Amino acid sequence: MKKFISQEIESYALSKSNRPSALCAQLAGHTVETKEMSVMLIGEMEASFLGFLINSISAKRVLEFGTFTGYSALAMAEQLPADGEVVTMDLDQQLEATHKEFWNKSPHGAKIKCLFGPALETVMKTEGLFDLVFIDADKTNYLNYLKISLEKLAPGGIIALDNVLWSGEVLKSASELDPEKDSSTLSIQEVNDWVRDQEGLYGTLVPIRDGIFVITKKG
Ligand SMILES: C[S@@+](CC[C@H](N)C(=O)[O-])C[C@H]1O[C@@H](n2cnc3c(N)ncnc32)[C@H](O)[C@@H]1O
Repeated sequence: MKKFISQEIESYALSKSNRPSALCAQLAGHTVETKEMSVMLIGEMEASFLGFLINSISAKRVLEFGTFTGYSALAMAEQLPADGEVVTMDLDQQLEATHKEFWNKSPHGAKIKCLFGPALETVMKTEGLFDLVFIDADKTNYLNYLKISLEKLAPGGIIALDNVLWSGEVLKSASELDPEKDSSTLSIQEVNDWVRDQEGLYGTLVPIRDGIFVITKKG
């Protein structure tokens, strides 16, 4: 993944920011050691940003699309009140052992519930409204996830869509992209354009890490 800001600047920013716990850092380290796709982790800067969103709206319920090893879920749970909840969804049931190993070591782990299966199906099993929705699963479903999330968003809630700059690939024109090979890029471009065109939404595409689109309903 392309870095949009220097390591030096990011380290400085992090050194002044609230950050996830040492246990989250251990989970990130474990992920890097054991998973080929550890680049999928949101990392400390983005976790700090999500923590800010949670604190700024006093969020209690979080919905996450894409759990992976459970780093972002744990970082968000750490910022919720004792009766808060993270409902997170992932396809891969094999991740459960890692979730248990790390979430069970945390006083915040009991706030997290993981639903396994395709998120478009499992999300239909979730009940009630969510204050924060974090979308970080398969990019080709981003617009579907966003539309469902808007229905599940509590008044004053925020949706955060991850990887919306897709290492800068979003800058490419249609003629430079192959519909099969570049389906993720095309889907991200589509969702970014869709958000821009919604009169009822207020969206800000923040160039943190790989780009986060933060979206709320106006008014
Ligand atoms: C980028 S990773 C999530 C990273 C995680 N948010 C973190 O930072 O710790 C994306 C995850 O989405 C999951 N995923 C992919 N397609 C999915 C689908 N259709 N339904 C549910 N999960 C899916 C993958 O198994 C993968 O674990």
